Amino acid sequence: MKILITEPVIESAVQKLQNHFEVAVGSRGEFDNVDALVEASRNFDGLLTMLSNPVTRDVLASATRLKVIANYAVGYNNIDLDAAREFGIQIANTPGVLTESTAEIALSLLLSVARRTTEAEQQVRNHQFDGWHPTGFLGLELYGATLGIIGMGRIGQAFARKAHACGMNILYHNRNRIDEEKEAELQAVYMPDLDRMLKEVDALSIHCPLTEQTRHLIDKRKISLMKNHALIINTSRGPVIDETALVQALTQEEIGGAGLDVYEHEPAVHPELYKTRNTVLLPHIGSATFTSRRAMGNLSADAIIGVLTGKPLDTIPNLLA
Ligand code: GLV
Ligand code: GLV
Repeated sequence: MKILITEPVIESAVQKLQNHFEVAVGSRGEFDNVDALVEASRNFDGLLTMLSNPVTRDVLASATRLKVIANYAVGYNNIDLDAAREFGIQIANTPGVLTESTAEIALSLLLSVARRTTEAEQQVRNHQFDGWHPTGFLGLELYGATLGIIGMGRIGQAFARKAHACGMNILYHNRNRIDEEKEAELQAVYMPDLDRMLKEVDALSIHCPLTEQTRHLIDKRKISLMKNHALIINTSRGPVIDETALVQALTQEEIGGAGLDVYEHEPAVHPELYKTRNTVLLPHIGSATFTSRRAMGNLSADAIIGVLTGKPLDTIPNLLA
């Protein structure tokens, strides 16, 4: 059987799949378009896809031999799950193994935006450091500040734990309230009314998946409810925020700043964002640790091997469709 890994991933995953199958590896970006994926779905039994690969209904409808797709990500908004179910193609993702790495990037963004470290570092690199300054680079102290978390799943909770360790007060908005025990551990307060939460926070961090319900969840009106010094951190998916509204609010200083690891039209970045002083912009590196990427490789390879060697589906972890 033949497997396509749409672009080079960590070597251990390639080797694991090569122990069972003939494996082809695409080049960077080669399968970021529907036409290339339609072709692949006719020629391979299994695909290991990236979050930038649009696995649309057309791609899945063209599958003649394709049985399984493992998405090298926890988010799977790039895959039409309904169509996969309809055409009997198994879909897997990689939950649980990038929880801490992504929460670390969210914390890193929050710290850098709050304390303006990338902006300040630039001063040093530009040979402009002229000594300790009584009013230079004043920022937000996390200790005692109020954090709002949208999406209190694995990553949201891991981030809450780290923020709690920084001495932040934690509010969260989620479809459902989490266990009382976890709430107590983090002293996290459930806010079913998102508008109310937005009015109270000094920083907001987004950890929900991208769905039709969460697309542009943070729009112009929602941003206008926030305090003028409030910071927005996004490590989930770009389209959860209306990026044009965000850029406007940043430029007009209606909010304090933003730390972004994801963008609405990735890999394009809104041109005005480059000009903003109060932002930290990262290139979607939430899960980019050796530990996470190795584990993501193992999980994806295991799902493909499981389906194609005929293991009972209910014994294969992380199948979605
Ligand atoms: C990364 O964004 C992922 O969904 O794994
Ligand atoms: C800062 O360096 C201080 O000593 O206050």
